[in-house]
Amino acid sequence: MAGPRARPTPIASEARRRFDAGLGLPLALAGLLSLVACRDPDRALLARLPEAEQARFLRGRAVAVPCWTCHDLAGQVDKVGPSLEGVFGRRSGMAPDQPGSDAMLSAAIVWDEASLAAFLANPAGFVPGSRMVSPGVGDPDALADLIFYLRHVTQPGARTPER
Ligand code: HEC
Repeated sequence: MAGPRARPTPIASEARRRFDAGLGLPLALAGLLSLVACRDPDRALLARLPEAEQARFLRGRAVAVPCWTCHDLAGQVDKVGPSLEGVFGRRSGMAPDQPGSDAMLSAAIVWDEASLAAFLANPAGFVPGSRMVSPGVGDPDALADLIFYLRHVTQPGARTPER
């Protein structure tokens, strides 16, 4: 479509209306976010992120809900899986709170965005024999949001551990 500015007013105002409608949901979410923010363990972390990244963080956090059944962040709660705090840059199976399985140790993966994405898309396929019984995250967008969230939340001391 050439030269939208030259178009007559009805079309311009229709475009404007659609633009406003598209903004409604993000604005409502931002409002809700600021309402609950004072009780959120990720409050400090969220405050450091630009708005678009806050939305991404929250989407990734929703994807990660099942993970916390088996993992915690600081190794303070004994769970079936290892603590994920500080997982970026660490070798597989080397979490301080729990020794990894032989499969995880001998895989000798250094966890970064790419290796975590490959593992979390298909845990049993990427590390055969791993003790992690999870179907993985098949949707590529959800997986990318999950990795984004993990990169922030697993930084030691990034949030108040409470799970
Ligand atoms: C049913 C329990 C369970 C669920 C659900 C689960 N995990 Fe795991 N996870 C484990 C166990 C157990 C291990 C240890 C695997 C091993 O040593 O073979 C593990 C290992 C890992 C590792 C490797 C840790 C290391 O130090 O090498 C990462 C990373 C991980 N899980 C992330 C996740 C994420 C992210 C999710 C959510 C998408 C998730 N897990 C869901 C049980 C689970």
